[in-house]
Amino acid sequence: MYNLRRFKGFYVGVAMFTMLSSFSYAQPTLKDSPYPADDRVYEHLNVLASVDNARVTGFEGEHKAADYIAQQFEDYDLIIDRQEFPVTAFLDEGSKLIIDSLDGKEIETKNFTYTPATPSEGISADIVFANLGSEEDFTNIDVKGKIALIKRGAYTFYDKVQNAAKAGAIGVIIFNNSEGMISGTLGQISDIPALAIMQEDGEALKAILDKGELIKVCMKIDTQVKDSYSENVIGTLYAQKNARNAKTVIIGAHMDCVDTPGANDNCSGVTGLLELARASQMLKLNYNVKFVAFGAEEIGLVGSQKYVESLSQEEKDNIACMINMDMIGVGETLGIMTATDNSNTYMADLAEKCTKELGYNYDRSVEDRSDHTSFDTVGIPSVHFDYHIDQNYHTDEDSIDKIDSMNVLNVYSVVLNMLRDLEKEMPTDQKDKVIKTMKSFNRFDLGNKSKNGEFYIK
Ligand code: BES
Ligand code: ZN
Repeated sequence: MYNLRRFKGFYVGVAMFTMLSSFSYAQPTLKDSPYPADDRVYEHLNVLASVDNARVTGFEGEHKAADYIAQQFEDYDLIIDRQEFPVTAFLDEGSKLIIDSLDGKEIETKNFTYTPATPSEGISADIVFANLGSEEDFTNIDVKGKIALIKRGAYTFYDKVQNAAKAGAIGVIIFNNSEGMISGTLGQISDIPALAIMQEDGEALKAILDKGELIKVCMKIDTQVKDSYSENVIGTLYAQKNARNAKTVIIGAHMDCVDTPGANDNCSGVTGLLELARASQMLKLNYNVKFVAFGAEEIGLVGSQKYVESLSQEEKDNIACMINMDMIGVGETLGIMTATDNSNTYMADLAEKCTKELGYNYDRSVEDRSDHTSFDTVGIPSVHFDYHIDQNYHTDEDSIDKIDSMNVLNVYSVVLNMLRDLEKEMPTDQKDKVIKTMKSFNRFDLGNKSKNGEFYIK
């Protein structure tokens, strides 16, 4: 009995000590702290990346993603600006070329970007060799109602296809003039469907035609192509003081994807962007931050180019730097990259310093295949983060289950610390006066994670 009471007293003592210590080291709650939670990263991923073709440029998924991001920015009290621009939307679901005259043999194919689809049963017709597909090449042959077989070279894919269409062809097959498959774009919607095949297959078909034999094929192209629009969603967090004279920092991530769920490419970057937009609120920065979800990256960095083009010289001069996140959810080593070997390295150097401080694996290299390149081109110091090539890049396997939220949150930590450092360097007025507003804001390190998913400083 006596022993038990002593034991009880001991436990009560421990409990009280725990309560007291947990008061003195109280963790910030998720909603009002700059600390992110990985369940929120997965929440964004579940909304934006849980189906195939989740956010293909110019289609419904991208528009919905834009709405979601704008809503989140609004919830974080940012000022929203949606910058729309026209795009040709294209979705590629594959193609088939069946050679009826060769017992239904199938030849490997690849669709040209922006080819219209065939009816679902395909188009069946004889093929006619039309050399390189110039206007002249069609003068001596009859392709009316037939499919033109054309060799790659000398003219654009689009011109070859349009010449065939003008001559009355109903479809085009272009074969390569070197090893491997053609990965080509028409640049715009053509009047008739067109696909690519390999050189050896094209030459084999031509050899049969040269013997005077007929070849009947069935060509099936499953695509969606239409004139549409994309947009950049911009959320602005104005400087605490003197916002009119304050410099602007751009943080960006593209929201569109190819015909995949696009979890890593690039919902990962978007989740980083959303979490940074939420947390930056609390930093009381002396510069403006524009959080930009770029559209139409996958069709040639179009959104970021439109954004840069839309800026006046004064606005461009006022942008201090750009931070880009693209594919930050999968991989071991954080790549800190500039667009070219000759780029301004100011931001990459700062990123390296902040990454080193936090002890994360990283390397430095060059990458130009994302939106920071549009800013680098006009002389804005830019840095790009990605965890390097992902084996599921641009495949249907780029799904949420592959994402490690810690990767996203590591980049988040690095960027927050970069913002802290920029704060010290960016004057709020012309007199180069540095105002330190981040008294309580020290340093983030998400290396530790508590059981309930909250993060805290190491
Ligand atoms: N995130 C990728 C680029 C990338 C892939 C960077 C793998 C690092 C590793 C980006 O979204 C993309 O696919 N870009 C296009 C280029 C663009 C100019 C159309 C690409 O690389 O095909
Ligand atoms: Zn990407």
